[in-house]
Amino acid sequence: MLRLSRFSLHLPRAVAFMPGLPAFDEFPVKVWTRLLTVQAHRMQPDMAGYNFHLGGYGPLREALTSYLRSSRKVVCDPDQVFIVSSTRAGLDIICRLLCDPGSAVLMEDPGYNPAKNVMRAAGLNIVPVPLDADGLRIDLAERSDPTARLVYVTPSHQWPTGVSLSVRRRQQLLDWAERRSAWVVEDDYDSEFRFDGRPLPTLQGIDGGRHVIYLGTFSKVMFPSLRTAYVVVPRSLAPAFREAVPYAGQEPPMHIQAALAEFIHQGHFFSHIRRMRRLYKRRQALFTDAMIRHLGDGIPVDRPAGGMQLSLVLPGVCPATAVSLSAGAAGLYAKPFSISALTNAVPNALHLGFAAVPERLIDPSAKTLASIILATR
Ligand SMILES: Cc1ncc(COP(=O)(O)O)c(C=O)c1O
Repeated sequence: MLRLSRFSLHLPRAVAFMPGLPAFDEFPVKVWTRLLTVQAHRMQPDMAGYNFHLGGYGPLREALTSYLRSSRKVVCDPDQVFIVSSTRAGLDIICRLLCDPGSAVLMEDPGYNPAKNVMRAAGLNIVPVPLDADGLRIDLAERSDPTARLVYVTPSHQWPTGVSLSVRRRQQLLDWAERRSAWVVEDDYDSEFRFDGRPLPTLQGIDGGRHVIYLGTFSKVMFPSLRTAYVVVPRSLAPAFREAVPYAGQEPPMHIQAALAEFIHQGHFFSHIRRMRRLYKRRQALFTDAMIRHLGDGIPVDRPAGGMQLSLVLPGVCPATAVSLSAGAAGLYAKPFSISALTNAVPNALHLGFAAVPERLIDPSAKTLASIILATR
C-alpha cells in the first residue's frame, strides 16, 4: 500500500526563486496555440482513439530522434523512443519493469526528490551515494551495496548541486554498469541550457545505448504543464516498453504530441532553445550580480556554466531552512538542499531558480532574499 505520509509535496508559492521553472513570459504562445488548434481539430481515429500510436506519436518520436542524435549524441532509432507524461512516469515504468520490490537502487545524495518518491513507491531500497566536485562517487557505491543493479543520475547538472559528472567519472560509472550488468538511468532534464561551449557528452552516447536508459523532458524547454517527457531505451528493452507504456496509462494527449512534432519540425523548438539560452545567461548574470551586491563579501556566489538555477552555500550560522521560512513569508521561494537530502550529510545551501523571473523583478527580489540571509545570521 502506498503510504503518502512517507512522501513530501512542496507547493510552489512564488516564481522568484523556484528552481526548475522556465521563462513563461518569453514563451512563443501565438505559434504554439496555432499549432495546437490545428491538431485539436483532427478527429481521425488515430488522433482521437486508443493505442494507434503505441509508444507515442510516430512523427514526434522521429523528430526527437534526430534532435537527440544531433544535439546530444544519443544513439537511437525512433522505435527506442517512448513518449510518456512526465520524467516520473518514465522512471516509474523503468523501476517496475526492471526491478523487484526490495531491490537496491543507487541515487545521488542530495538528489531529485520526486525521483526518490517514485522509486520508494515502487518498493525499491534507495542507497544514497555521496557527491564531490566531480559528481557521483561510484567508487563508494561499489562498497556500500554490491547488489544494486540500477542507478539514477542527473549527470549534466546534478540536481540540486549543479555539479557536472566529470568525463572520468562517466567512464567509471559505465564500467560499473558493465561489470554488474546494471542499468544507468540518465535524467538529462535541462542540458540544453549550457551557456558557454558545448554540452558534455551524454552517458547514453558514450555507452552507445547499451546500459543507459535516457530520460528527457519538455518541461524545461517548453513548460511543465505540457506533461510530456520521453524515455530512450536500449534496443533490447524496446519490446517491453512498447507494451508497458500503454499498460501504465502514462501517455500525453495525442494533439499535444502532434503539435510538439510540428513545433520541432518547423524549427520553432531550436530557435526557442537558442533564445532561452541567451535569456537565461542574462538572467543568471543579473541575479548573481544582484546577490553579490546585496550580500557583500561574506558569502560567495557562484555562477554555474549553465542551467536554470544555482546553489548558494550559506555559512553554518545561517540555517538554510530558517532562510527558506522567512523567504516564504516575504513572498519568495528559497528551497533548502535539505528537501533533496537522503541523509543528513548535505550542504547548508539554497537551490535558487532564476530563469522564470522577469528582469525587472530580479534585483528587488534578490535584495529581499539577501537581507533575509544577512538577518538570519
Ligand atoms: C532532476 C529533474 N528531472 C526531471 C525534471 C522534470 O520532470 P517532469 O518531466 O516530470 O516535469 C525536473 C524538474 O524540475 C528535475 O529537476
